[in-house]
Amino acid sequence: MKDILEELERRREIARLGGGQARIDAQHQRGKLTARERIDLFLDEGSFEEFDMFVEHRSTDFGMDKSRIAGDGVVTGWGTVNGRAVFVFAKDFTVFGGSLSEAHAEKIIKVQDMALKNRAPIIGIYDAGGARIQEGVAALGGYAEVFQRNVLASGVIPQISIIMGPCAGGDVYSPAMTDFIFMVRDTSYMFVTGPDVVKTVTNETVTSEELGGATVHTTRSSIADGAYDNDVDTLLQVRRLIDFLPQSNTSPVPEIECYQSVTDADNSLDTMIPANANKPYDIKELIQKVADEGDFFEIQASFAKNIVCGFGRIEGATVGFVANQPMVLAGVLDSDASRKAARFVRFCDCFNIPIVTFVDVPGFLPGTAQEYGGLIKHGAKLLFAYAEATVPKLTVITRKAFGGAYDVMASKHLRGDLNYAWPTAQIAVMGAKGAVEIIFRKDIADPEKIAAHTKMYEDRFLSPFVAAERGYVDEVIMPHSTRRRLARGLKMLRNKDLSNPWKKHDNIPL
Ligand code: HXC
Repeated sequence: MKDILEELERRREIARLGGGQARIDAQHQRGKLTARERIDLFLDEGSFEEFDMFVEHRSTDFGMDKSRIAGDGVVTGWGTVNGRAVFVFAKDFTVFGGSLSEAHAEKIIKVQDMALKNRAPIIGIYDAGGARIQEGVAALGGYAEVFQRNVLASGVIPQISIIMGPCAGGDVYSPAMTDFIFMVRDTSYMFVTGPDVVKTVTNETVTSEELGGATVHTTRSSIADGAYDNDVDTLLQVRRLIDFLPQSNTSPVPEIECYQSVTDADNSLDTMIPANANKPYDIKELIQKVADEGDFFEIQASFAKNIVCGFGRIEGATVGFVANQPMVLAGVLDSDASRKAARFVRFCDCFNIPIVTFVDVPGFLPGTAQEYGGLIKHGAKLLFAYAEATVPKLTVITRKAFGGAYDVMASKHLRGDLNYAWPTAQIAVMGAKGAVEIIFRKDIADPEKIAAHTKMYEDRFLSPFVAAERGYVDEVIMPHSTRRRLARGLKMLRNKDLSNPWKKHDNIPL
């Protein structure tokens, strides 16, 4: 018996070494952790239960029968994050560059199926060279099996991808179908085809970093939802995100103890809006003052900064915040902002996370670049997302709510549950200057008349009261009471029961 136990331990030790000490050292020299180190850091201490440690590939071509390594380039299993179960797989770059073989894919598929069956989030950690070239179509088939499961799990359990090294070829599409992608600065990159192929096909010379580094994907392509400086920070931030998320679309949002009063007035909010309507202010300040202890996990912080999206808590329970940001492009809605917020709103709706929307929006961005770029379709994404969402929707208009953007930003007409306005709100088709120049065009040469018309327009329309008279805002509230109002509203809406007509699925403009 003793020998048998020792043999198991011996085999485990070999398997834990993956591609060997030299490759582990090389991984460390590049500033990267190994797959097992990452999982250990990510999960609660001692909670990791590994599966399929001894799985090997079955390939015999190109001399592969002489090189089999236990685990076959991916470490899989489950554990807990702050006590809640999650499933994980982490590509092991020390074994065939983390490339995906048929057996490697089967390991991932097993945890995907278990995560879905047991309704728990799944987290994939990437550091890999794509399809195992020696396995040909068997590897391609393996990828497609993974992709299929990503799609079936979408909207049922949270799926998160963390890119911590190369992520190329077949490896990119599974993360792309998950809910969130996070990258490590300087050591990770994602692309469909690498710099060599790019050079051959388009004659462009680019580095891996320029083609698919964290900066590109967080600021330009919007593929990634966030980037951090190193492996440790990235893993800890994803743990933080998981704390905000429910286990599945049928689980309640997590709740933690709330140590901050929800009834205290925050008088600083009463002076937050500048006297000059064209002066910016930072909407994140409002989010931080409303969220418990100012704890806000921002999604896509470096992309389309004219809209802010992220998770926080009110009275201990998770909410999704969406807010126009007057500091960037005056908070205007453009194609990028619309796409970014639409995806976030849909995530919240999938997972029953109430949405709190702060509105200060001068409209949609005019111009040929936007129109040629499909602003109509992208803007419609956000409109569609808010309109189909059945989760509690609470809206506070702090200042401007102009034109189509008024409708889009979780207005009453899109089944907003509680729509509040601060006394500083201006709800109108457009600002005074534009409106007067159109409706009083005949007086355009007479500054006195224009000034009188402008004053009349401002008095009548640039306030919350025209909308309030019609019930389009439920109440004009004191800014200092915003947190209390939202907390009470969220409590009242806990049993909200609303569903859309049956359909196979909708046809959101893509
Ligand atoms: C088999 C691979 C491999 C792969 C890397 N390795 N990628 N083995 N299949 N796809 C092996 C290498 O041979 C090497 O083994 C070890 O992993 C480490 O790789 P290095 O090249 O030494 O490391 P590095 O210099 O850091 O470069 C990493 C890399 C590079 C950028 C990922 O390895 C690379 O370009 N790999 C190929 C990427 C690729 O084209 N993949 C196929 C994409 S097509 P030894 O034993 O020598 O140390 C694809 C289609 C799927 O994925 C489509 C589905 C939709």
